[in-house]
Amino acid sequence: VCGIVGYVGHRQALEVVLGGLRRLEYRGYDSAGVALLDGEGGLAVERAAGALSNLEKKLAEGDGTGFEGNSGMGHTRWATHGAPTDRNAHPHRDSAGRVAVVHNGIIENFAALRAELEADGVEMASETDTETAAHLVSAAYAAGPTAGDLAASVCAVARRLEGAFTLVVTHADEPGTIVAARRSSPLVVGVGDGEHFVASDVAAFIEHTRDAVELGQDQVVSITRDGYRVTDFDNTEVEAKPFSVDWDLSAAEKGGHDYFMLKEIEEQPAALADTLRGHFANGQIVLDEQRLTEQDLRDITKVFIVACGTAYHSGLLAKYAIEHWCRIPVEVELASEFRYRDPVLGRDTLVVAISQSGETADTLEAVRHARTQRARVLAICNTNGAQIPRESDAVLYTHAGPEIGVAATKTFLAQIAANYLVGLALAQARGTKYSDEVAREFNELAAMPEAVSSTLSTVDQVRKLGKELADSKAVLFLGRHVGYPVALEGALKLKELAYMHAEGFAAGELKHGPIALIEDQLPVVIVMPSPTGRALLHAKMVSNIREIQARGARTIVIAEEGDEEIEPFADELITIPAVPTLLQPLVSTIPLQVLAAEIARSRGYDVDKPRNLAKSVTVE
Ligand code: F6R
Repeated sequence: VCGIVGYVGHRQALEVVLGGLRRLEYRGYDSAGVALLDGEGGLAVERAAGALSNLEKKLAEGDGTGFEGNSGMGHTRWATHGAPTDRNAHPHRDSAGRVAVVHNGIIENFAALRAELEADGVEMASETDTETAAHLVSAAYAAGPTAGDLAASVCAVARRLEGAFTLVVTHADEPGTIVAARRSSPLVVGVGDGEHFVASDVAAFIEHTRDAVELGQDQVVSITRDGYRVTDFDNTEVEAKPFSVDWDLSAAEKGGHDYFMLKEIEEQPAALADTLRGHFANGQIVLDEQRLTEQDLRDITKVFIVACGTAYHSGLLAKYAIEHWCRIPVEVELASEFRYRDPVLGRDTLVVAISQSGETADTLEAVRHARTQRARVLAICNTNGAQIPRESDAVLYTHAGPEIGVAATKTFLAQIAANYLVGLALAQARGTKYSDEVAREFNELAAMPEAVSSTLSTVDQVRKLGKELADSKAVLFLGRHVGYPVALEGALKLKELAYMHAEGFAAGELKHGPIALIEDQLPVVIVMPSPTGRALLHAKMVSNIREIQARGARTIVIAEEGDEEIEPFADELITIPAVPTLLQPLVSTIPLQVLAAEIARSRGYDVDKPRNLAKSVTVE
């Protein structure tokens, strides 16, 4: 959580920093702030609670004094310690106002550090953990072995901090340098011509350069106009990995849509195709970074899938596919629960960690726990070089491109496809499927971008329905088999975007309690199994619909084209293309995404930035 950007170069830093923050605002929008160095010993700071526009307004109202200069940094905050107020907004300064710090993460030993500083007579200006870092850097720079050396001072402070953090630090005495440190939080360096950047995400500087450098765990980088230097926390120089960003600015902009989320829904066919591309060659499924051998995969006797939120729902779907194809037991667990209940893990366990951001603290900690128990870990991730893939034995990247809308859409579909690729890779290694069967399954997957496109072309009806349902108090979602995780995902989307009470249920569970919720005109969305592929389940679902219709529910049925039997039971019928059963979620999810977005818009909410949420949740 939190977006960070730092700049040193030949341009006006304020413009570069604000431009970067605009692209990072999806990471948190509780407050924003900037610090600018005028190059003559001045350090100016402005901060404002709420959206970035509040900060921009404040800056525009000022006379600009102090905000001209070629180095600076900025922050957009998702509050952890301290309320989202002006006072707690970053950057934070030392008492003399010479050091400024922005921070992403949590300094876990901050209470002890704060007590130590206060005992030394330091007066704290905020309630944040971040401010302690500003005072500590100030002291390290003022005296002792690191005096007068900002990079060395930051290293010394970083060694004392516990928890997860990215810190970006400036000192008015070193106006041409910005120093950043990272532990378990993201940080990338942008390498330009006569200018350098640090940011939590390449989106912040993609407008200026596509050349980037990945920072490792427990590393510090100093950037100047002319170069960068990477060290470990002991200030010993280390080698860093340069890479080139393979998407451009237009991919990070709205492309004519009112909201990123709507653009991202439209991008799903391409996201799916890009995720599948290159993963089937010479009759074999190919993973991206494979540090597991075929024998390792053959030795696996149990699979655990760990993930949160939407990624967890994609994991629930993976269970159906992997058990069916590989005949290995699969357990799907919320990452936040996993390590606290002492799961039975060993060398023959494969833990699949699914995370769009690759930064989610709950999932990262689940991965770390699995590794301490010697389990093998395979990551499915959308962010190149993020922490979760770095700490895993194998990686399959979802190449869905940047997802700016806070609610996951295209990355959900990409995760489903990636999960299935993992299932096929396992089936192939373990010989539970012949290679021609693997090829057939892959080809069916490869045909899905087209089915997704044709589903998208029919969503106008759903938009209309969304407007009609905007005043509903609650909506229920029902599914069976692979329709059940889709129902959960539909309910999650509606909760997070429209702030409406929504629940997903396995339709068979209804009579065990939830049916008591049904009342006159309550909208119930039902994801129907295929009448041909799953005839038995289809029949059972028809009975479930009759039960709720008899109690007054308004039935909104998502069913395969040609499913005539369902027509009498649907107050509203939404049709999707007929596709193989395991692949149906790739099309049945789409009307649910559109429905949630439309209800939210009709209620006047910003679908890109739902309240209280952040795109990547780097705290437990
Ligand atoms: C919901 C949503 C979240 C994320 C969850 C995991 O729309 O986006 O539920 O799916 O926070 O995030 P990642 O996949 O980054 O680990």
